[in-house]
Amino acid sequence: MSNILVGVSGGIAIYKTVQLVSDLLKMGHDVEVIMTKNATEFITPLTFSSLTKHDTYVDTFDKHVHYSVEHISLAKKADLFIIVPATANVIAKVANGLADDMLTTTFLACDCEKIICPAMNTKMYENRITQANLSKCKEYGMHIVEPANGLLACGDIGKGKLADLETIKEAIRMYSHKDRPLDHMRVLVSAGGTKEAIDPVRYITNHSSGKMGYSIAKAARDMGADVTIVSASELDDPYGVSVIHVSSAKEMYDMIIKESQRADIIVMAAAVADYRPKKVALEKIKKNSDMSLELERTDDILKKLGEDKHYKLCGFAMESEDLVENAYKKFIEKNLDLIVANDIKEKGAGFKSDTNIVTLIDKNGIKKLELMSKDELGYRILERLVKE
Ligand code: CTP
Repeated sequence: MSNILVGVSGGIAIYKTVQLVSDLLKMGHDVEVIMTKNATEFITPLTFSSLTKHDTYVDTFDKHVHYSVEHISLAKKADLFIIVPATANVIAKVANGLADDMLTTTFLACDCEKIICPAMNTKMYENRITQANLSKCKEYGMHIVEPANGLLACGDIGKGKLADLETIKEAIRMYSHKDRPLDHMRVLVSAGGTKEAIDPVRYITNHSSGKMGYSIAKAARDMGADVTIVSASELDDPYGVSVIHVSSAKEMYDMIIKESQRADIIVMAAAVADYRPKKVALEKIKKNSDMSLELERTDDILKKLGEDKHYKLCGFAMESEDLVENAYKKFIEKNLDLIVANDIKEKGAGFKSDTNIVTLIDKNGIKKLELMSKDELGYRILERLVKE
């Protein structure tokens, strides 16, 4: 796990930083905290020290800290420096190389990945000076986790609320990941269950949540890729990934074929409907005695992608019997580089669950993997695909 330095400046969102530090420690990271003097007006350093089991640094002239040595040694061992919350004042300082306290001095001395999580009043955030400072930070290679819209502590409603902790943790996961074998590669992932309209009110769909596809997309992002998800899922857009929302199999087909032109790797994790209503009623269908729907086949996107490949292609096989035989048939027929075979009857392989148990099949053979989280499996699928 990583050595993470958390810089804390004086804003009311500081109470969320306490939860963040606690979460990072539970994830196994080694965390040290540096506070600005203003931050200590909101929370005492003891709060962070009790959690991290390290001294919390505040002032460069702190009696028990040998400043000249300490800020450099902290900077040297950090894998990642995140400022959360970052006030307009601290952003202005780091954008311009000011170093007048322990936080800004150490920040300047660090050459690791740096993340800034702004939190402030909307007017201060939208002020052209703050925006120019943030642009400058980006130019210098720092990563910004944009604040959210909402009700601010000052009573105003607008942009400036600290991003939610899940998003901040995703950014930390992304920038603290050490292996980046997919650097400069473009990965396209499909996810979720498509919806096929019957009338303006009703549709046909399936139980897919989109979790597996999103886990693969996040793993590809962490491994350095430029990632796009074509999504029929209701899940929130993950940090650091482009998401194109679609609904039907036809919309997914059109978007995937368009995006495939610039892809190096494509993973079709979506549960695409095989059939759709032949006619979509323009008005809501009124109930009657009996009702039947005429269905027609949708196009097989994966098969189309396999016809003329300039990318690596991975598909899924969802089976309830003869797992390996059926999956292998799809592997050959759809001209794939890898197929991930799921037995839907196996424990831990549910649509909505956070775990999966799969068998990977490629030209090198068959490998049954143990039960694992979908996030972990995301990395394993991509590693196998890259090695293949
Ligand atoms: N797939 C697709 N387009 C479709 C149907 C499926 O691209 N119209 C893709 C899925 O995303 C998955 C793979 O094909 O990667 C296999 O999907 P699956 O539902 O297991 O199999 P099908 O090919 O639809 O065959 P069957 O339903 O007969 O098992």
